[in-house]
Amino acid sequence: MRVMSERQPIPRHVAIIMDGNGRWAKLRGKERYEGHIQGVAAVREAVRAAVRNGVEYLTLYAFSTENWGRPAEEVEALMSLFCTSVINETPSLVEQGVRVKLIGHRSHFSEKVQRYLTEIEERTADGGRLTLILAIDYSSRDEITDAVRKIAAEVADGRIGAAEITERTIGQALYTADYPDPDFIIRTSGECRLSNFLLWQASYAEFYFPQVLWPDFTEEDFDKAMEVYASRERRYGLI
Ligand code: IPE
Ligand code: IPE
Ligand code: MG
Repeated sequence: MRVMSERQPIPRHVAIIMDGNGRWAKLRGKERYEGHIQGVAAVREAVRAAVRNGVEYLTLYAFSTENWGRPAEEVEALMSLFCTSVINETPSLVEQGVRVKLIGHRSHFSEKVQRYLTEIEERTADGGRLTLILAIDYSSRDEITDAVRKIAAEVADGRIGAAEITERTIGQALYTADYPDPDFIIRTSGECRLSNFLLWQASYAEFYFPQVLWPDFTEEDFDKAMEVYASRERRYGLI
């Protein structure tokens, strides 16, 4: 059972489903990848605002496992964008005290992309102000399935009894074992669904679905979201 915490005006962990890049591009008669490029600018805004607001963890859903099913051209554009973003953004992340971590499969990426992703984690490892968790090739159901496999293997080995499995055992077997649950989940572009994102971790999160398309998201939009969060009353099943 959870202990009711005091009202916290600033969420400790914000998670964002960055949606609407394709629609943003379409509205401007551009190719979808141009929406993704502009989406990187919005990531910069969100990170800056998160640091300024004193948020400790920011998780960004950047690429779902289902996104591999998009046209090859778009997937390739996204892969090369991940690599150029690592090169371009790392110095500013280091300067802001941001530590980057990844959740997802990783092994499905080419060796080159994996190298870039590892590099950003290594180069930002000392960041102490904000942990930026990038969900890339992430699927919450895969994550839960992996956790079940891990725990089942421990039971089979006799390291843990089936009756000893608790909520904590499961939380510790997820990719997010080292991070607190998200307090606040934002999905841009007006879509109101989770799309396989943090299903377990979102149990008591607050949700917010602004209409803004991700490439248009600014620091002001983040600040507005913080106001929305501060107005919510979290009850955790109590009265
Ligand atoms: C989100 O924008 C970015 C990724 C999923 C990589 P979309 O590409 O889903 O944009 P829409 O939803 O088609 O507008
Ligand atoms: C979810 O957005 C994944 C990311 C934002 C990375 P999608 O655009 O892929 O999700 P659906 O298809 O609208 O559910
Ligand atoms: Mg979308």
